Amino acid sequence: MQIAPSVLASDFARLADEAAAVADVADWLHVDVMDAHFVPNLTIGLPVVKALLKHAALPLDCHLMIEDPDRWAPGYAEAGARNVTIHAEAAAAPVRTLRAIRAAGARAGLGINPGTAIEPYADLLPEVDMLLLMTVEPGFGGQHFLDLVLPKIRRARALIGDREGSVWLQVDGGVDDDTIGRCAEAGADMFVAGTAVFGATDPAAAVIDLREIALRAVRDAPRS
Ligand code: DX5
Ligand code: ZN
Repeated sequence: MQIAPSVLASDFARLADEAAAVADVADWLHVDVMDAHFVPNLTIGLPVVKALLKHAALPLDCHLMIEDPDRWAPGYAEAGARNVTIHAEAAAAPVRTLRAIRAAGARAGLGINPGTAIEPYADLLPEVDMLLLMTVEPGFGGQHFLDLVLPKIRRARALIGDREGSVWLQVDGGVDDDTIGRCAEAGADMFVAGTAVFGATDPAAAVIDLREIALRAVRDAPRS
C-alpha cells in the first residue's frame, strides 16, 4: 500500500518545504505535468521537475497529462524521475515510449482516463510497471471521486494478477479518507492524494491515516 501525495495541492512557491513535510511517511511524490492541451490546465514542466529532484528526498512519480508524451516522457526519466506515466489516450507510439522510459532507468506507467476501457491495453501490460486509473477527469485537483471507476479497478486487478506482482495499480483523483477504502478493496495498491494530504493541517498525519484506512479495508474485505 503506497501513498503518493500530489504536489498539485501544495504551495508551489514552497515546493521543497511541502515535499519535506511528507518525506518520512509517504512512498512517492506525485507530480502532475499538464500542458493545457491534453487537459485544460497548465502546471509545471521539466525545469521545475529538475529543480525538485535536487531537493526532494522521495522518488518522483511524474504523471504526464500532455498531448505528446512520445516526445517528452523519456526526458523526465533521463532527468531522474523514478516513475513516468504517459496517457494511453495521448501516446501515438506507447510501446516505443514505455520502452524508452524503462531504458532510461525509470518505471513506466500507463494512465487511463475514466471513460477509457482498459481491455484494449491488456497486450501492453508486459511493457508497463504501473497502471494509473484516473478516478476523476484529469486536469484539476479537488474534484469528486468517480465511483463508476470501481468496476474498472476490479477488472484491472484481475488482469494484472496478485498484489505481489510487478505491476502496480494506482488510483488518482478524489482519493481521501472516505474513498480510499473502496479503491483498496477493489484492488488498488498505490494511492495519489492531493487535497486530502496538502489540504490537511498536518500532511504527514494525513498520509499515515490514509494508509491505515487502505490496509484496514483490505484486511476486512471478505475473501472470494
Ligand atoms: C488530476 C491530477 C491529480 C490531482 C489529484 O488531474 O492527476 O493527481 O492532483 O488531486 P486530488 O487528490 O485533490 O483529487
Ligand atoms: Zn496525477
